[in-house]
Amino acid sequence: MAGIVNLVRSSARSCALSGLVCLAIRAPSQQLPTAPQPQQKLQQDGPAKAKRVGDQACAPCHEAYSASYLHTSHHLTSQPASGNAILGSFSGSGSTLKILDPIPSKSSPGLSFRMEVRDGEYYETAIVGLPGHEQSHSERIDVVTGSGTRGQSYLYWLGDQLFELPLSYWADGHQWINSPGYKDKTANFSRSIYPRCLECHATDIVPRSSDPLTNHYDRASLVTGISCETCHGGGADHVTAHTSTLASAPSTATILNPARFARDRQVDLCALCHSGGKRAELAPAFSYLPGQPLDSYLQPAPVDPATLPDVHGNQVGLLQRSRCYLSSPTMSCSTCHDVHAPERPAAAYSDRCLSCHRVQSCKLSQTIGPKIANNCIDCHMPRQPTNAIIVKTAGNAVRTTMRTHWIRIYPEVTQP
Ligand code: HEC
Ligand code: HEC
Ligand code: HEC
Ligand code: HEC
Ligand code: HEC
Ligand code: HEC
Ligand code: HEC
Repeated sequence: MAGIVNLVRSSARSCALSGLVCLAIRAPSQQLPTAPQPQQKLQQDGPAKAKRVGDQACAPCHEAYSASYLHTSHHLTSQPASGNAILGSFSGSGSTLKILDPIPSKSSPGLSFRMEVRDGEYYETAIVGLPGHEQSHSERIDVVTGSGTRGQSYLYWLGDQLFELPLSYWADGHQWINSPGYKDKTANFSRSIYPRCLECHATDIVPRSSDPLTNHYDRASLVTGISCETCHGGGADHVTAHTSTLASAPSTATILNPARFARDRQVDLCALCHSGGKRAELAPAFSYLPGQPLDSYLQPAPVDPATLPDVHGNQVGLLQRSRCYLSSPTMSCSTCHDVHAPERPAAAYSDRCLSCHRVQSCKLSQTIGPKIANNCIDCHMPRQPTNAIIVKTAGNAVRTTMRTHWIRIYPEVTQP
């Protein structure tokens, strides 16, 4: 059994998600963010550092953004466990997963998982052993990560320690799979959740130590979902300014608007979470302030032209290779994305291409005609299958496709 079930005994320092998000490298303590330049100082002392007030505080005055934001993957990317938040199946045959058949003649134990609801709470249970001699280990799902666009992974608390559960939900096929990066034919309940994981998938959590690999937290400090203030900085001064009857400072002085950042700082804000996971840290998780150069917080991402995107794709690195980006000093992620509203269907973004290009500048318009205007995307930003295997489950490989952000000519793609 020892070889199959890895319960919470070791303080094994593993990196989650096949090491793709391995941020384990420690930096010398001197390499904390460099002293602020004068023009950055205002932002550091001012809006970004104001106290946080939470998304509900913005709603009365920014009604439209607040309402549509509730439906975005950013908002939904982590949630307390509930029947609504957990997308996988807990009833019928969909609630069990057989990984290994037992072979009694060789005394090889079997392994299966059962997803159970007890008293309105949700559990993952691993069952190991030979028929008649099974043992099980069960943990409750406490936190859900992932909106479910591709999938979800689940976390549980043991005292003040946060761990990942062995099974994840995969939307393609509406199925349970081994959690990404987990070894097939094992039941591992001991993978630690370190702060950087939550920096990308939540608003806040307070670790009990400065060790970048700690999984000891103040439980009550977890704020799930990415919130307005992740990108706009603390809002307390701004709310006070607009609710007070006294004459007060203009919004520009009380809240950060990324539209006013230099292009590179705008992209840095997105790059905090969208430049892949392999970046060594120079400053602790949750210390980044929007508007600051990200390179003072994380080592620049390695440039590896051979790498294909994985489930943690690198949209920033790919876009930055595109001639569109290199030749347009103001192009940023916001040229196409409005992060306050859910994604539109891919083809709809063609209108963004046509804000800079004309249909006629594409040679294919001569052969295919004006209908290419409806879908520049599938030819110039095709979905690409990755060779990277997310995980193997009961011997079957799970892969995914990613929309590349390297906008260019893909001669092999000639059909929209
Ligand atoms: C009591 C009303 C009120 C509340 C609450 C409020 N805002 Fe505002 N906000 C405004 C008004 C009014 C403006 C536009 C006024 C202006 O341009 O000076 C504004 C402007 C902004 C801007 C643009 C600033 C700029 O420089 O262009 C941002 C960003 C913003 N708010 C974000 C937020 C966030 C995030 C919250 C919640 C933490 C929030 N607001 C809460 C009233 C409010
Ligand atoms: C704090 C981390 C963080 C920051 C900052 C951030 N993102 Fe994201 N973003 C995520 C995560 C995590 C997801 C995946 C959410 C999910 O599906 O669970 C995501 C998803 C997305 C998606 C896909 C949405 C969908 O519906 O599938 C887009 C587009 C996106 N982000 C754009 C941006 C842009 C543009 C910026 C900068 C303005 C930005 N993000 C900043 C973490 C972040
Ligand atoms: C550097 C930021 C970053 C880190 C660290 C990170 N993620 Fe992600 N994660 C993302 C982004 C961004 C996406 C959306 C996919 C994409 O476009 O790359 C995502 C996607 C996911 C998804 C699929 C979401 C969906 O609905 O499709 C899950 C589940 C997930 N992450 C879990 C985790 C867990 C668990 C950890 C830590 C053990 C982790 N991630 C660490 C940024 C991060
Ligand atoms: C993932 C990062 C992110 C999140 C989360 C986010 N915003 Fe924004 N917000 C931006 C960016 C980037 C811009 C600038 C867009 C542009 O360039 O036009 C912006 C602009 C704004 C503006 C100014 C709009 C204008 O027309 O001038 C307001 C107001 C605002 N956001 C409010 C909110 C509120 C309220 C929330 C939460 C419900 C929120 N934002 C969540 C990134 C974010
Ligand atoms: C902000 C303006 C802007 C946007 C938006 C934009 N582009 Fe471009 N694009 C450019 C510029 C500028 C060039 C470089 C032209 C040159 O150097 O001659 C370019 C180059 C290209 C090229 C040639 C690339 C190469 O490697 O030869 C293609 C193809 C292209 N764009 C397609 C698109 C598509 C499709 C979209 C929408 C997904 C898009 N562009 C969005 C400005 C833009
Ligand atoms: C020229 C337009 C354009 C620009 C600029 C752009 N994107 Fe996208 N992005 C798209 C399109 C189109 C999609 C596909 C949307 C869909 O499938 O519904 C997409 C999808 C995404 C997704 C979901 C990825 C997936 O495979 O599910 C993320 C995350 C994302 N973009 C982040 C970013 C970030 C971060 C930036 C800035 C570095 C950025 N995008 C800049 C057009 C753009
Ligand atoms: C059916 C696939 C397809 C569609 C749809 C498509 N393109 Fe293209 N595009 C191509 C191919 C292939 C080339 C290279 C043609 C050549 O040089 O022979 C190209 C070339 C280009 C170029 C480079 C021109 C140059 O010579 O540098 C631009 C810019 C461009 N397309 C923009 C767009 C825009 C904008 C749209 C949407 C309105 C679009 N394309 C729709 C396949 C497509």
